Amino acid sequence: MKSFALLALAGLTSLIGASPVSPSQTSPLAARQGDGTASAPCAQVSEYMYGNGTAVVKTDVPAGLAMACLGSVPFNATSAKKLIASIRPYMNWQSTLIALKNPPAEYAQKVQPPIDILGGLDMIDGYIDTNRFKNEYDFGWTLYTLIQSAHDGHFSYIPDSVSSIFQWGRTVPLVSVSVDGTQLPAVFAFADVLGNQFKNISYTPSPVVEIDGTDVFEYLENLSQYGSLQDRDALYNNVFYELAQVSLGSSGGGTGMFTGGGRGRFVYPGDTTTLKFANGTKFTMHNYGRPAINFRGIATGEDLARKWFSFGSTASEAAKPLNDKTETISTTAAALAPAAPGYPSPVVQGPANLINGFFIDAPGYEDVAVLSVPNFVGATQYETMFQKTSQEFIPKALAAGKTKLILDLQANGGGTILQGYDLFKQLFPDMDPYGANRFRAHEAIDVIGQTYSAIASLGPRTGTGNVTIASAQSSWFDYHNDMTVDGEPFSSWEEKYGPVEVNGDKYTTLNRWNLSDVYIPQASGGINVTGYNSLANVTGPPKFKPENIVIVTDGYCASTCTIFTEFLTQQAGVKTIAMGGRSNKNPIQAIGGVKGVNNYGFSYIQQQAKQAVRWNRSLNSSILGQDYYSDIPFMRGASYGVNNRDGLRRNDTSGTALQFVYEEADCRLYYTPEMTVDITTLWKAAADVQWKKSGKCVKGSKYGSQKRNAHEVTKKLGRRRVFTTQAAAKKQVQAFEDSFSLETESKMEGDGFMQP
Ligand SMILES: *[C@@H]1O[C@H](CO)[C@@H](O)[C@H](O)[C@H]1NC(C)=O
Ligand SMILES: *[C@@H]1O[C@H](CO)[C@@H](O)[C@H](O)[C@H]1NC(C)=O
Ligand SMILES: *[C@@H]1O[C@H](CO)[C@@H](O)[C@H](O)[C@H]1NC(C)=O
Ligand SMILES: *[C@@H]1O[C@H](CO)[C@@H](O)[C@H](O)[C@H]1NC(C)=O
Ligand SMILES: *[C@@H]1O[C@H](CO)[C@@H](O)[C@H](O)[C@H]1NC(C)=O
Ligand SMILES: *[C@@H]1O[C@H](CO)[C@@H](O)[C@H](O)[C@H]1NC(C)=O
Ligand SMILES: *[C@@H]1O[C@H](CO)[C@@H](O)[C@H](O)[C@H]1NC(C)=O
Ligand SMILES: *[C@@H]1O[C@H](CO)[C@@H](O)[C@H](O)[C@H]1NC(C)=O
Ligand SMILES: *[C@@H]1O[C@H](CO)[C@@H](O)[C@H](O)[C@H]1NC(C)=O
Ligand SMILES: *[C@@H]1O[C@H](CO)[C@@H](O)[C@H](O)[C@H]1NC(C)=O
Ligand SMILES: *[C@@H]1O[C@H](CO)[C@@H](O)[C@H](O)[C@H]1NC(C)=O
Ligand SMILES: *[C@@H]1O[C@H](CO)[C@@H](O)[C@H](O)[C@H]1NC(C)=O
Repeated sequence: MKSFALLALAGLTSLIGASPVSPSQTSPLAARQGDGTASAPCAQVSEYMYGNGTAVVKTDVPAGLAMACLGSVPFNATSAKKLIASIRPYMNWQSTLIALKNPPAEYAQKVQPPIDILGGLDMIDGYIDTNRFKNEYDFGWTLYTLIQSAHDGHFSYIPDSVSSIFQWGRTVPLVSVSVDGTQLPAVFAFADVLGNQFKNISYTPSPVVEIDGTDVFEYLENLSQYGSLQDRDALYNNVFYELAQVSLGSSGGGTGMFTGGGRGRFVYPGDTTTLKFANGTKFTMHNYGRPAINFRGIATGEDLARKWFSFGSTASEAAKPLNDKTETISTTAAALAPAAPGYPSPVVQGPANLINGFFIDAPGYEDVAVLSVPNFVGATQYETMFQKTSQEFIPKALAAGKTKLILDLQANGGGTILQGYDLFKQLFPDMDPYGANRFRAHEAIDVIGQTYSAIASLGPRTGTGNVTIASAQSSWFDYHNDMTVDGEPFSSWEEKYGPVEVNGDKYTTLNRWNLSDVYIPQASGGINVTGYNSLANVTGPPKFKPENIVIVTDGYCASTCTIFTEFLTQQAGVKTIAMGGRSNKNPIQAIGGVKGVNNYGFSYIQQQAKQAVRWNRSLNSSILGQDYYSDIPFMRGASYGVNNRDGLRRNDTSGTALQFVYEEADCRLYYTPEMTVDITTLWKAAADVQWKKSGKCVKGSKYGSQKRNAHEVTKKLGRRRVFTTQAAAKKQVQAFEDSFSLETESKMEGDGFMQP
């Protein structure tokens, strides 16, 4: 496509130029499904990847061909029935299961519509019985989107057919920017903005106005709805290239959902995607499916099923490895990651770019410190380093005369719950974090709790005694753990369990973490929380006045991030700035990710159930022995989990989980072109609007009421540049281009973490 100068200029040529495909090869129609001959799509995939040999020739398969192959895997109704039956018990652990069906009106109107998960499973069962699934993928995608439409980042079931064979991508990252911070945001190819900011380019970038013939905003808002967040503006931001996500490397959302980052990797992008620009130019990119398995010797969909799907059988329940690439994925990202593209050098550097402290090196910002926290850490080897980073940075910033603090939480999907408590306590040592939470009350929890509490009561609570007793005592299911909302101990399991009936469902009694407990370091990956235990000596007034702290988010603040912001905003009175959002002038939310306060994997739940049965054999005939022994959910899924605890607000009387509470940010700012390549320009804008009154929050008119003038947009964009030397610009551009190959690998975890 010769007119598409932007790609050549910004170095995307390699991606596009190497574009795998000639159109005839890619048409799914050209390849008959599962006909057992060499022309079957899976055989074509195999040939495409290995040629005539065995070594991998190409890894990215034309998306249409990959989908034709996936679609040729026949549907196994027997296995599907078993799978649906075996995941039902886990649904009970989803704290919002019933509330999702009938959420508060404001949530339903402004955030997401109601969703009946159990009804959906019934429907899927009905489809299986009436033979309505065309193939295995059709079933897998239906199951995946049912759970995904709860828009709860902790709640997922990702079937084999959706993630374990191919993951999808597009090659051109996009951004949504307001050319001057005031005009409505328009969509650009990121390479255009990058070229415009750093290079001497000969054309003026033009905004994207249509994608595949659909209005660009409509298209991208629709795509964004396949994301994990609940808030629609946060979902929209997640479509685009963003510095904070990129800074997390393969643990983050890559270069945006449009290019297959985050949950985008599960959404088939079509064989091609065509962008139409305001200047009339069109560009068609070839999309790809990246195989997650090897295709050697695979000729048909049946072969693929035999080799790579574990349908389960009565004879053998042994799971096959779903992914022979997993062992090659390195989980040891260097602790001291190199500076991410678009970030300056930190003053205090934390592990793996999860946390870094910065000063803004520019006149007028001498009093501003920035703590960038795109993650609350979930890898044990980083927990202590993570806490140390802020322990070192905060005093250093104060000593350097910084009186103001920007907490940049963009891209923060959470991590370790107690790290969120700790950072709050480091900033506000004298405050008592509230953090009430509850489980959904149901029989399995009751039986497990009775059993754990009985075992835990056999010995003193020292944290060091008999291993069996200690393992019961360190669990939430021991009533000695946690405290009441008034900070008192529970007197029995019955008191902790309740249940309490609220808004049509039953929940356990509200409880709060006992941060003085001896088992806290076990729950935190090895730290005590500031202000408690060995750190009880840390007390005193706030390190920064609440009005001198501001939280910046892109809406992608989930799980532990929401625990942390809840304390800061509700208890300390800190204000929020929300970046980006859909192309309108409405107020938006700052916290757009799951506000549930703990996630359990299905396998963790199964372990608890099995442990209780091991401790009390007579429970093998109880619900625990019946419902939690099947391994089918693990054989057929790549990832599976629930949100097991709701968060509740202090002084709340409605019983509404925070997940369903809609609340607007104190201020909204659009991303500008500069902010997509230089994070300090974003921090300056936040400082300006918060403390200098020299910026303005987006306010005002209704959705869509201001017409975008593409010509005007283009002219303004052409004039705005980041100032830098040519040599520095060259290095910068290289760093960005390297990031274009980032893939989301979900390497991190945590007890309060949403997988990207
Ligand atoms: C080997 O590959 C070439 C080129 O892709 C093809 O033309 C040829 O038919 C292949 N040979 C066999 C034996 O498959
Ligand atoms: C379908 O699944 C069932 C049980 O889960 C299994 O026994 C059977 O072998 C599978 N069929 C095929 C064709 O793989
Ligand atoms: C590029 O920069 C040079 C030197 O600064 C200048 O003479 C030239 O006109 C520029 N070209 C474009 C296309 O802006
Ligand atoms: C139109 O805009 C696109 C995207 O910025 C650019 O690649 C292309 O060169 C422009 N075409 C013309 C004719 O200016
Ligand atoms: C996106 O649009 C398609 C086609 O209109 C529609 O079928 C689909 O349900 C939409 N998806 C979402 C998540 O809104
Ligand atoms: C730990 O306590 C359990 C329960 O009282 C007991 O059965 C077990 O023998 C004890 N183990 C050790 C090593 O003392
Ligand atoms: C919290 O835990 C500590 C140590 O285990 C215990 O002494 C204290 O009584 C507990 N507090 C409450 C309210 O349960
Ligand atoms: C936590 O504090 C307790 C004292 O309350 C101490 O015994 C323990 O060593 C501390 N653990 C860590 C990891 O600092
Ligand atoms: C608190 O006590 C720890 C030792 O447990 C010590 O390292 C630290 O310096 C003390 N902090 C303060 C603020 O006194
Ligand atoms: C074991 O479970 C049964 C209920 O199935 C219960 O009656 C009994 O008290 C339990 N035993 C212990 C030691 O907890
Ligand atoms: C409990 O029953 C299941 C079958 O329902 C069996 O596989 C398991 O071994 C039994 N466990 C115990 C502890 O008896
Ligand atoms: C909310 O609860 C806290 C702690 O119980 C109390 O101090 C505060 O006054 C309450 N605020 C309101 C507005 O009721």
